[in-house]
Amino acid sequence: MAIEATSERDMYEKMKTLLAEIVPDAELRIKAEIAYEINRLKTEKNALILGHNYMEPALYHTVPDIVGDSLELSRRAAETDKPLIVFLGVHFMAETAKILNPEKTVLIPSPKAGCSLAESITAEDVRHLRAAFPGAPVVAYVNTSADVKAESDICCTSSNAAKVVAGLDAETVIFIPDAYLARNVAKETGKRVIAPIRPDDNESNGARTTRAQAVNPQKGAAIVAWHGRCEVHERFTVQDIERIRAQFPDVVILAHPECRPDVVAAADFSGSTSAMIRYVKETEAPRYLLLTECSMGDNIAAENPHKTMLRLCSVRCPHMNQITLENTLDALRHHRYEVDVPEPMRARAVRALERMLAVGCQR
Ligand code: 13P
Ligand code: SF4
Repeated sequence: MAIEATSERDMYEKMKTLLAEIVPDAELRIKAEIAYEINRLKTEKNALILGHNYMEPALYHTVPDIVGDSLELSRRAAETDKPLIVFLGVHFMAETAKILNPEKTVLIPSPKAGCSLAESITAEDVRHLRAAFPGAPVVAYVNTSADVKAESDICCTSSNAAKVVAGLDAETVIFIPDAYLARNVAKETGKRVIAPIRPDDNESNGARTTRAQAVNPQKGAAIVAWHGRCEVHERFTVQDIERIRAQFPDVVILAHPECRPDVVAAADFSGSTSAMIRYVKETEAPRYLLLTECSMGDNIAAENPHKTMLRLCSVRCPHMNQITLENTLDALRHHRYEVDVPEPMRARAVRALERMLAVGCQR
């Protein structure tokens, strides 16, 4: 939540209280000046700043009015009466805020903040999947572009994926684009997985999907998956878990459901980014390891100074890390980068998002 400060000095003192163990002092002084100016401009422009849980600590703790996971931020974006939203997260998140608020201006501080999952599938791919599995509803993970959402029946996030799938009155469900999340959801909902369809340069998409159907002729409840993966979470392995447990036998390990199913099974808890934050707050363990973007461990450590967080910081999200205090200030100063979604596409995409919001959170 944003720090209310009366001066740059006051901002620095308040940041120091929270972040002295995490951010070096010289950096804190510079960041306090920028954070103070962002909050001043935010008030002047009557803006709302939304920040994803992966924002770096000096940003996360100072300027967002609301922080949260994808579902919480979508929900809060849908509720605001502010005319301007600045989204500190990746593009599909800012786009979701725009789809839910067509009459408002939505800015994202960097045009480079993409997502490997959102980039793994196109609207045409969804149309081919529908043709190959007629009648099967399409569940789109929110980590997708607006045109993919527009082709889908309902969206979900990591905090309600199993609830969304279980609530559909259908034997076969198409679940896009995360192959591992699809398998984790299939396990939770008792469905088998029709193997992720892998791109093959020699075949058209239509041929690929038809072939996938042909090699999975069994009957029974099924999830048709896609081959998308999060470039961050796919890198955690069971071997990482075994090594950490060998060194720290009392560690509690939390894995995001975008991790491989064997990693999720070997962890002690799996949930959305906010579910992981709540888990650490509400439990007492000698130490914790988060298998997710590293900044979140720092954010939890700042709020829970008596808890020990282990780090596996070789794995960073290059997209989330595009968003900085510096370019957030530029976004407010220069009114950039505006997110836009053409109206016919938006009108179709909003239905899938509103259906998801009506389902709510599962944990
Ligand atoms: P959450 O919805 O759990 O915050 O996840 C978003 C995301 O992109 C994780 O990599
Ligand atoms: Fe996308 Fe993975 Fe980065 Fe989340 S962590 S924004 S899923 S690339």
